[in-house]
Amino acid sequence: MELAGRNALITGGASGIGLASARRLVEAGMRVALMDRDEAALAAAVAELGDSALAIPGDVASEADVTAAWTRARADLGPLHLAFANAGVGSGPALFAPRVAWDWVLSINVGGVVNVMNAVLPEMLERDEGHLVMTASLAGLGGVPGMGPYVASKFAVVGLAESVAHELVARGSRVGVSVLCPGFVRTQIAESDRAMGPALRAAVPVDEASLAAARAAVAAGIDPAEVASAVADAVVTGRFWILPHERVALRTTEQRLAWMRGGPMPGIDLARAARR
Ligand SMILES: NC(=O)c1ccc[n+]([C@@H]2O[C@H](COP(=O)([O-])OP(=O)(O)OC[C@H]3O[C@@H](n4cnc5c(N)ncnc54)[C@H](O)[C@@H]3O)[C@@H](O)[C@H]2O)c1
Repeated sequence: MELAGRNALITGGASGIGLASARRLVEAGMRVALMDRDEAALAAAVAELGDSALAIPGDVASEADVTAAWTRARADLGPLHLAFANAGVGSGPALFAPRVAWDWVLSINVGGVVNVMNAVLPEMLERDEGHLVMTASLAGLGGVPGMGPYVASKFAVVGLAESVAHELVARGSRVGVSVLCPGFVRTQIAESDRAMGPALRAAVPVDEASLAAARAAVAAGIDPAEVASAVADAVVTGRFWILPHERVALRTTEQRLAWMRGGPMPGIDLARAARR
């Protein structure tokens, strides 16, 4: 798909991978609607990107907010050619995570992607053009300790994206779908609790060791601009898998396959998932 002159909706567009992608797509001549719940960061992003960007505050976990964001972007920009369902939050370990912690992570990381898909796909299918990118993670390709609800949410996104790809092919549709599976990237993801209200923060225990390991790995991660280039390239070429840490993604998958065949359970080194 050509990028110049086209329109995109990016959720989580005020920070990290979403913001870097907005910069990359605007550079390529696109106009971008950024949806994010962090209104201050959103205002700063739009001030930086100028007339090519539109700020839409909202919560991706809310179907009504996402539908309203699509309606607003459609009204202000015209038809949307690219939707990047990217907003997401991190989590602590699976063991002892209370149900509210699971609900919060799954409602954003999975529910948010489903809401974007349901908002944008009917018109894309009708026009028989457009591209949907869903953000998963390397954590959607193999289990890791210290972030169980997050891992479960990212496996769900990989499964969803693969299923949508099969369904689009079965319909003979020209609408494209991609799944983004980066290892660690230098963003604010390890500070995801900034988006929790006080009641939720009080109810969700913090595992300091897991948080410290995640922070160190994120700090050692790649620049979000590298991920943004990989996303733009996948949209232009129609590639399904977006693997900015390709070597680690393939090794993770090969080790799981060996495990399925009766081999040893893979050892996990989070620092490895930060390096390309
Ligand atoms: N940083 C990494 O190492 C890494 C690795 C793999 C995948 N990812 C994924 O990349 C995506 C983007 O994260 P990031 O690393 O750029 O982190 P980030 O925290 O820098 O950016 C995430 C953005 O999403 C927004 N957001 C969070 N919850 C929201 C909600 N309910 N509604 C609307 N906006 C919401 C935040 O306000 C923030 O602006 C996430 O899905 C994340 O899981 C990140």
